[in-house]
Amino acid sequence: MTQQNMITVIVDGREVQVPAGTSAIDAVFQAGRDVPYFCSQQYLSPIGACRMCLVEAGTPRKNPDGSWILDEQGEKKIFYFPKPMASCTLGSSDGMVIKTQTEGVKKAQSGMMEFHLINHPLDCPTCDKGGACELQDRAFEYGYGVSRFQFDRRHAEKHYELSEFVILDQERCIHCKRCVRYFEEVPNQEVLDFIERGGHTFIDTIEGGLPSNFSGNITDICPVGALLDNVARFRGRNWEYDHTATTCTACPVGCSITVDARNGRLERIVGRDNYEVNEQWLCDGGRFGHPYVDEDRLTQPLIKVDGKFKPATWEEAISAIKTGLQGVAPQNMGFYTKADITLEEGIALEAFVKQVGTQNVDHAPRYGVVVNAPAATLLDVATADAVVVIGADVSEEAPVLDLRIQEMLKGGVLPQQYDFGTAIADLRLTERMHRYRERLAVFYPTKTRLHDVAGITAEMDSVKVLEHLSSVVSGQYAGGAIEEAAALLKGAKKPVIILGSDVLKGGQIGLDIAAHIALSTNAKVLPIPADANGVGLSRLEVVPQNGADLSLMGTLQAALVSRLTRIPEDFAGFLVVHETQLTDVAKRANVVLPALTNYEKRGTTVNLEGRLLKLEPAAISSGESADLITALGAIAEALGMKAPIRGQRSAQKALKERFGVDVANLKNMGEIVDLGRQYNARAGRYHRPEVGMWKETMLRSSRLREKLGGSFNAALAD
Ligand code: SF4
Ligand code: SF4
Ligand code: FES
Repeated sequence: MTQQNMITVIVDGREVQVPAGTSAIDAVFQAGRDVPYFCSQQYLSPIGACRMCLVEAGTPRKNPDGSWILDEQGEKKIFYFPKPMASCTLGSSDGMVIKTQTEGVKKAQSGMMEFHLINHPLDCPTCDKGGACELQDRAFEYGYGVSRFQFDRRHAEKHYELSEFVILDQERCIHCKRCVRYFEEVPNQEVLDFIERGGHTFIDTIEGGLPSNFSGNITDICPVGALLDNVARFRGRNWEYDHTATTCTACPVGCSITVDARNGRLERIVGRDNYEVNEQWLCDGGRFGHPYVDEDRLTQPLIKVDGKFKPATWEEAISAIKTGLQGVAPQNMGFYTKADITLEEGIALEAFVKQVGTQNVDHAPRYGVVVNAPAATLLDVATADAVVVIGADVSEEAPVLDLRIQEMLKGGVLPQQYDFGTAIADLRLTERMHRYRERLAVFYPTKTRLHDVAGITAEMDSVKVLEHLSSVVSGQYAGGAIEEAAALLKGAKKPVIILGSDVLKGGQIGLDIAAHIALSTNAKVLPIPADANGVGLSRLEVVPQNGADLSLMGTLQAALVSRLTRIPEDFAGFLVVHETQLTDVAKRANVVLPALTNYEKRGTTVNLEGRLLKLEPAAISSGESADLITALGAIAEALGMKAPIRGQRSAQKALKERFGVDVANLKNMGEIVDLGRQYNARAGRYHRPEVGMWKETMLRSSRLREKLGGSFNAALAD
């Protein structure tokens, strides 16, 4: 908590210091007391809609001469408001007295509870929110237990699909307006609103349907079961789920998530608060893209005999690999993996290939992301006074970064942090805040979502943008949007340049020009890597410095490929594929080893800011599936060797020796750590990122494809 402009507030007799401007509800929480609330939400503007957070409050007053009005005891006299006040919209002031436990407060809160339950159907036995419903909890804690209202509850639309992913039960809505505020304030899309008035009010979309990308967040913040995740609906009750706090690896942002599994199946993903990364938000791909985890999973190794796969034990697979690798020299073997493996798996791979004696190792998708200029964090983006996006379709490549840009457009007013966490009702946030469109410039060859909200835009080749921008900051004239963007960067105090796939796939040239622009304008730079752990793996020697990269795999006699969706057609050697499903690549293998998804792994990844984040294994059953460390152990055994790193512990020890960081004890929000030198290598066709939010891996699920219809094909990059 900041120490500036502190005021003293007395909550239930306890004195607490809070910054001036703090809401009364936050002063209450800071004092360690409780108040029920429904409509307030950490990252949304407070509106005082539900009236649950009622307290008695009063302040001292001054005489016209500036002296305090005193009571009979000579103490400052407290002038109480004549009725209970909604503490979420009440600003606390110095000397304010707040009472949360009086009979009057209890009666007011119970009365409001009774009022909320007039119309809310008591669907608890069938409602998916049962067990995690704020209304249920608060009714138990603060309600009367009986209702004096005798009339029928109102009836409205139930099971109403707002989109393929979000379902609405209008009867359950308590009109807290969180979902409406969310869409307007966070992704900047005014699509939901209250229709009708009074007892007839209901929620609906204005345009019909919800826009994709960030719609699922309303299912997390709806305090009752009115808005539900249509992928997870009816698949389990809250108390049946095993909750695992982990990290999303579907893109390089690395949002904090909770994975809910039941009976060994991944049923739901919800957002987890991480102020520095995703606040509480997820993109729809990260939230709803999980059904593939439980569809057609490989649960044991497969060996190809006479052109057909037959199930095998790991021992049989190892012996088949041994036969297949007989007589293959190390320099004719290659090891290729997807770039979202953990740092632990990466260092095990690095140690293993060194031991084998080959330099044919690579990860994909991949391209260099080191710019010789100060690096920006997600908080730097949110609090910048100018952001220039070059070559990135941000809402597809790193979706939650789009939301941090939206915060920047609102003037970078981030919710305050207190000892108890993020403010429940930050009075500096207001509905329909002004957006500083002129602070955002967006350049991409085609129109992106951010083009609609930026003041400066152009649909242009990204390298040309960089070249022109570079000459303008060096004093030449280019005209148009480029000139404006250069002026924006030069005039700003905290500018950030974001670089995306269209720049980065072009190699070092773009990075060097970007560095020149950044250094000339004091801008920080945030490049978006090609995959979830691209940054981490580029710090390990799992790039082909002298050996065959992925595109040269066809020159080898044997290869292990872990979870890649594409490999060169001309590879005709002995192939071991480590995969979660029998994909087209896996079908070409001689031996398939079942792989864990990242929801099932323990380990560490490094996001686009260079932040180390923890992966924890959710309770998902995937038979004999194993991570890459185990798969490498199997290959080592087939080669008659002992792999140098054979488990988490030894991998973490190696990481500590290498980078000086104890990954076993990372902070909850993750930690930004400079891992030092990056190993660069040429990137080609096989290293291109998937720029769409819906990844090929996710689309292995027929359940998801059905929900998305045919629209996803366009999103897949070559
Ligand atoms: S649908 Fe949920 S979040 Fe939206 S207003 Fe109703 S109760 Fe609030
Ligand atoms: S923004 Fe990226 S990390 Fe976050 S939920 Fe979406 S895919 Fe996952
Ligand atoms: S009125 Fe809803 S939380 Fe205060």
